[in-house]
This record gives sequence, structure tokens and C-alpha cells, in this order.
Amino acid sequence: MVASRIGVLGRGLLPAGEPVLRADDLGVLRGDGLFETMHLRGGRPWLRREHLARLRAGAAAVELTLPADAALVELLDIVAAGWPAEVEGALRLVCTRGPEAGGPPTVYATLSEVTPAARQARHDGVRVATLSLGVPAEARPELDWLPAGIKSTSYGASTAARRWAARAGVDDVLWVSSDGYALEGPTANVVWLAGDTLCTVPARRTGILPGTTVAWLLDHAAEVGCRAAERMVTPAGLRAADGVWLSSSIRGLVEVLALDGERLSRSPRTRALQELVGFPLP
Ligand SMILES: Cc1ncc(COP(=O)(O)O)c(C=O)c1O
Repeated sequence: MVASRIGVLGRGLLPAGEPVLRADDLGVLRGDGLFETMHLRGGRPWLRREHLARLRAGAAAVELTLPADAALVELLDIVAAGWPAEVEGALRLVCTRGPEAGGPPTVYATLSEVTPAARQARHDGVRVATLSLGVPAEARPELDWLPAGIKSTSYGASTAARRWAARAGVDDVLWVSSDGYALEGPTANVVWLAGDTLCTVPARRTGILPGTTVAWLLDHAAEVGCRAAERMVTPAGLRAADGVWLSSSIRGLVEVLALDGERLSRSPRTRALQELVGFPLP
């Protein structure tokens, strides 16, 4: 196991256990911050540019002043330097609003090994249950005061959904709108195959997180003989699909084996799609 690392903007790499956040940091007090998690492969963060662009869009939406990209890249480089190329890493970049009394954002990065459970899910697939989000699919983007599609550190609803999943005996959750559409998982987008069209849920229309992994996958769908489309879908539509997956930066693409207890047929395309996104298989 490679030891985890922490680096702080302006302070460099810190010894494990060194304090990073003040007790009055608004990231802690209010979940007022943004983050990105990148897959470190071959010692480099995959889709770094896309992650930084999403972070910057989120920062604009919540009026958080970020350091220049060059400073963020330098911090990521410091944390990733010398990491063994053959070890997959989860590289997280966090920017909180900083101390309650005012001050610059707190910006730090953590790097740790991708967990065996995440790697195993790529091979084994996951059993998923739907869970109501209690709002219509298109309600959130209509609220002009509510930043939508940002990767906020405020993950209370996600962790609650994950606890619910554990109690329900499933591996993951798929949030469903009050008008019956599948949206996203607590830490993943949903991808499905309809014939030879690889589909995902439109992020702008629904306010879900625009995933970097799914965007890359759909941009490269032609390489595995597929078209790409953004569509609304119901759980029944997913059950009728030719394959369903969850996509995210660390697990990559994991096949959904069952939805609400009903087995889905395993797709013969899973391996080709996983190879396309380039996440190592166990
Ligand atoms: C709510 C949510 N949706 C989707 C995703 C997938 O995004 P990405 O592929 O950029 O990791 C994540 C990632 O953590 C997420 O938290």
C-alpha cells in the first residue's frame, strides 16, 4: 500500500497528521466548498483539464474565487510527484471558502490508492436500487438562485443515500425524480445502451453533475461502433436497455447487474467500453 499524501496550496506537501483546515473553515462549518476527484493513471491525472474546467464553472456559480489554474496544476504536480506509475490513485482537489471571518479559500489536494472495492466493482458490477429525490426532473435548473450541477463538498444527501443503500442491502443508488425519471447516483452518472446508441441523462436540463467520465465516453463512442445521445429515461426504460452502467472518475464504468431487485442482462459490450475508458480491470 502506497502511503497517502496531502499537499496544501502555499505550503507544499505536508507530513501525515499535520493540520490543514482551521476549525472555523466554512468548508467544515457549512460544506461551503468545491472539489474534484481525478483518476491518477500512469502517475498523471486523467482528464485534468476537464476537471479544472468543471471546478472553475462551479466556482463561478457559487462566487468562490479560485487561484489560477497554473497554481492548481502546480499543487497537483507536487502531490503526484514520484507516485508509482503502476499504482492507481484517487487525486482529490478541494477548495473551501476559507475562514468564517474572511480570508482566502483553503486549497489542498489529497492522493491515495484507489481502493480494492472500487477496482473490484469494475469486475463484479453493482446491484442498484432507485431512491426518490422528491423533486421533478427539471425543477432544479429552473431555480435561478440555486447553483446546479456543481461538485460541492456538501455531500450530506449523497452519504445519506449511501447509508440507505447499505441498509437496503444494495451496492448503490440511482436517484429518481418525482415525475419518474432516472437522474444520477450519489457519486456517479448513469449510462445505458439503447441498440447501438450509448446514452446518458442531460445534465443541463436536470441539474445533475455533468460527469467528466461519461462526457469522455460519449465523445469516443464511435470508437466502439456506437452513437451517443443524451436522453431522459425511466427505471422501466433502463430495465429494457441493452446494458446499464454507472460512470465515475474512480470506479470508472461499472455494470448495473440488478435494478430494484430485478436482474438486468449482462452486456457483452462491458469490457470493450471499460477498455475504451482505460480503467485497469482486476
Ligand atoms: C453526484 C455525482 N454525479 C456524477 C459523478 C461522476 O462524475 P465524474 O465522472 O466526473 O467523476 C459524481 C462523481 O463523484 C458525482 O458525485
